[in-house]
Amino acid sequence: MEKFLTEFKVVANRRLNREYVVIELKHPSELPEMHPGQFVQIKVENTPSTYLRRPISIHDVDKKNNSLRLLVQEVGDGTRWMGTLIPGQSLNLIYPLGNWFDVSASDKPLLVGGGCGIAPLLFLGKQMKEIGISPSFLIGAKSASALIELKEYEDIGDVYITTEDGSIGTKGYVIHHSIMRTDKPNFKAIYTCGPEPMMKVLAKYAGSRNMDCFVSLENQMACGFGACLCCVTETIHGNKCTCIDGPVFNSKELKW
Ligand code: FES
Repeated sequence: MEKFLTEFKVVANRRLNREYVVIELKHPSELPEMHPGQFVQIKVENTPSTYLRRPISIHDVDKKNNSLRLLVQEVGDGTRWMGTLIPGQSLNLIYPLGNWFDVSASDKPLLVGGGCGIAPLLFLGKQMKEIGISPSFLIGAKSASALIELKEYEDIGDVYITTEDGSIGTKGYVIHHSIMRTDKPNFKAIYTCGPEPMMKVLAKYAGSRNMDCFVSLENQMACGFGACLCCVTETIHGNKCTCIDGPVFNSKELKW
């Protein structure tokens, strides 16, 4: 798939809470094809500690307006700099990178996100809805204040919530929600992105019920195109680069 290096214009940078912002970017012309699960590499300016680009997954694409959105969690100098971007500024992107989720692999999918891992699930859920599949979402967060953009997910399908402190939804982790505890779950496949321990539990859950579980790995990346090998993950087919062979894998392929 062809890759592009393009300057986008920042159209909006909306702060959702203390940690998260959503950046809307406008492309100068028609956007190329992009798929849910793919990511962009962003050039970070003005911070000496961030000479490498930062990988950010594609949160949403609006083909009509040639714009895309990125959900950014401020965790270091690079992402904090992204939080300061203002409308009119330019942002240099290499995109679209990586493989993607198989949107039509199941007619009853459950999309499970934890933390910033919910980012690609919005784009995924929208594409599923477009082809007549009704996804459900299970979102895990530390507390009610960490839940973001719920309305956007509710517009696509049913949304179930767990929080570690029980301030909203079921208390505990995603695996503790009642929809996961029934013998006959109302879904046939899991698509997930978030902390690795959460995805490992979901992979085990799916494996024991003979379901597919598609995971999007958040391994650390540097080059983003298979040169530095810093993102390697072990699979039954040997070591694979998360940036070009992933980030999406069927959990059955992973040596977890
Ligand atoms: Fe360099 Fe994947 S990030 S090989």
